[in-house]
Amino acid sequence: MDFLLNIFRPFCMIFVRFYLKHTKGGNISIFALLNRNTVLEGFNKIEKKSCISNSKIGYSSYLSSYCNLENCHIGRYCSIAGKVNIVSALHPTHTFVSSHPAFYSINKQSGYSYVDKTIFEEHQYYDKKNGINVKIGNDVWIGYRVTIMGGLEIGDGAIIATGAVVINNVRPYSIVGGVPAKEIKRRFTDSQVDFLLNFKWWNKSTEWIKENAHLFQDIDLFISKQKAGK
Ligand SMILES: CC(C)(COP(=O)(O)OP(=O)(O)OC[C@H]1O[C@@H](n2cnc3c(N)ncnc32)[C@H](O)[C@@H]1OP(=O)(O)O)[C@@H](O)C(=O)NCCC(=O)NCCS
Repeated sequence: MDFLLNIFRPFCMIFVRFYLKHTKGGNISIFALLNRNTVLEGFNKIEKKSCISNSKIGYSSYLSSYCNLENCHIGRYCSIAGKVNIVSALHPTHTFVSSHPAFYSINKQSGYSYVDKTIFEEHQYYDKKNGINVKIGNDVWIGYRVTIMGGLEIGDGAIIATGAVVINNVRPYSIVGGVPAKEIKRRFTDSQVDFLLNFKWWNKSTEWIKENAHLFQDIDLFISKQKAGK
């Protein structure tokens, strides 16, 4: 049965991809899996074998292949490399005698349970009320094979170096890397970061961005031109 479903699913998804391409300018591989609670803002690209569920992906953000995202909010213009994973599930690490879910969860992760109610919080949330595990800002670049633990916020403009395991919030416009990830440096001065966080170029119209794209290669020029234009 699973075998038949696996053959049938890509054909169904062709129609979903066709719809997305022609209504929202998307480019979604027929071998990517998106559940119906996932919302794409538009102009998104998602490559093969990436699995995304219960997530929102902002305008123009793209994901390479083999990513796994669940309950994740991603801003606009994010670049997400291959094999990026969000890991939000938890097992107990102290007090409980065993870390096996049969002793704390009724969700039968291993097929059975010894308890009749769940007695341990199984996920780390950034926003529990809205079921968001991880919030990723705008214009974030996440490198190849990065793992992000649940409950975290990745600030606007941040860069996460390849291979990092992120266990703390990441400040806007910082570069973090390593296991566990630590701040390597900041991309810009404090006043430049303040300007960008207030300016929020990612909320501008596509027309505005096209007209100003030539300024994006020089932060000083970008800021001086925007200030002069006011
Ligand atoms: C972080 C990164 C962007 C480099 O940024 P950079 O500003 O050019 O930084 P540098 O190369 O000058 O390195 C700065 C410091 O970070 C360290 N560093 C670089 N990459 C690192 C990594 N992946 N993990 C840990 N530390 C790293 C360097 O060793 C250096 O340390 P030092 O100051 O003690 O010498 C780059 O290394 C990276 O990881 N890119 C992602 C590539 C990728 O995943 N591409 C997939 C397709 S998009």
